[in-house]
Amino acid sequence: TGNVTLDEAFGNTASCRSEITFIDGEEGILRYRGYPIEQLAEQCSFVEVMWLVIYGELPTKEQVEKFEDELVHNMFLDERMRDLFRCFPRQSHPMPVLSAGICALSTFNRNHVGLGAEDVEIATRKLLAQVPTLAAYAYKNSKGQPFLYPKYDLSYVENFIRLAFGTPAEGYQFDESITQGLNALLVLHADHEQNCSTSTVRMVGSSQANLYVSVASGVNALSGPLHGGANQSVLEMLAAIRDQGIDPKDYLEQVKAKKAGIKLMGFGHRVYKNFDPRAAIIKKYADEILSKSPNGDKELLSIAKRLEEIALEDEYFVSRKLYPNVDFYSGLIYEAMGFPVEMFTVLFAVGRLPGWIAQWREHNADPKARISRPRQIYVGHDKRDVVPMDQR
Ligand code: CMC
Repeated sequence: TGNVTLDEAFGNTASCRSEITFIDGEEGILRYRGYPIEQLAEQCSFVEVMWLVIYGELPTKEQVEKFEDELVHNMFLDERMRDLFRCFPRQSHPMPVLSAGICALSTFNRNHVGLGAEDVEIATRKLLAQVPTLAAYAYKNSKGQPFLYPKYDLSYVENFIRLAFGTPAEGYQFDESITQGLNALLVLHADHEQNCSTSTVRMVGSSQANLYVSVASGVNALSGPLHGGANQSVLEMLAAIRDQGIDPKDYLEQVKAKKAGIKLMGFGHRVYKNFDPRAAIIKKYADEILSKSPNGDKELLSIAKRLEEIALEDEYFVSRKLYPNVDFYSGLIYEAMGFPVEMFTVLFAVGRLPGWIAQWREHNADPKARISRPRQIYVGHDKRDVVPMDQR
């Protein structure tokens, strides 16, 4: 196999050069386009951060207002597109429905799926505007509830919340702290360099597949419990510990014994080996939001805190440098905000969308970009001859 080097799961392989996101895993540093995540989460709206991640600079007031207005005016889906959701069984998980919806979006925009600057810009705006609508309808379908239309007088994030959780009869009663909290959580998820879903988007894009289908592939990669699906798995794990009356210490003993592959969901990270800066920010929100919200499950929060407390002192977790990651507390906050468990990973997808788009665009704009094509070390049979059927 010549000069091929084995790097299982790409633990030590840089697949590209990128100007978008900087991570220092030892120091727990995360920056988008040079700006620290702590400052962005505190001071910027998600729409500003989408602009920053995709176009490289923070927008002016005028730029961001125009941008948000344009997105909100484009959140409507083609009526025929709305029918797509009716084909899925009730109770479909919204993630595969979202991914199918994004693929379908490419067929509704088939005159603008090229790789040239104008088409890429159109696809960027369409995806940013319509993925939240698709995500909301995927959820509405699972509940058997009617779809709402977007409203021009609401912000981008408000429109998403109302489309997903409002009803025609009552609309949606906005709570400023929920809108602000969701904004900050979306900012924290906006990009994370070459993680599994982003690498997927870049790899699919490297074959010159269009932006829509590349992003749909990212949604699929995100859905797994080791990646974005972890936020749902964490809540399910905490609920199981409570419902089965398991002592958190005993649960961790099972994890350490690696029984039936049980993991402490929401712990560990390929890159962060001291702390995940996103988790540090989220933990502050968890305390604040859960203390105020009637939906907040304080029992689950206290189980989570207890698990964290024990794990951080336990030699198994310490020696492997396992710390809480972004997903450990995010599900508890989403729940406290009144969001259903099945929507947690969808919220992650809506947050990660600008990152996927920015990374795809970066690859597409690189004149030296080539198709991604990893090699392998072959460990199968040597040459052997086919045995006729009657002799096998
Ligand atoms: N619970 C128990 N043991 C763990 C955990 C965990 N959560 N994570 C890693 N380990 C152990 C693992 O078994 C291995 O032990 P050993 O050396 O004895 O074989 C060691 O720690 C190294 O782990 P690894 O699996 O080689 O690490 P990785 O870099 O391949 O995986 C990870 C990273 C995030 C997939 C993994 O830590 C994990 O599965 N965590 C739980 C799922 C989770 O929370 N995922 C969200 C990640 S952050 C946000 C996102 O990407 O969406």
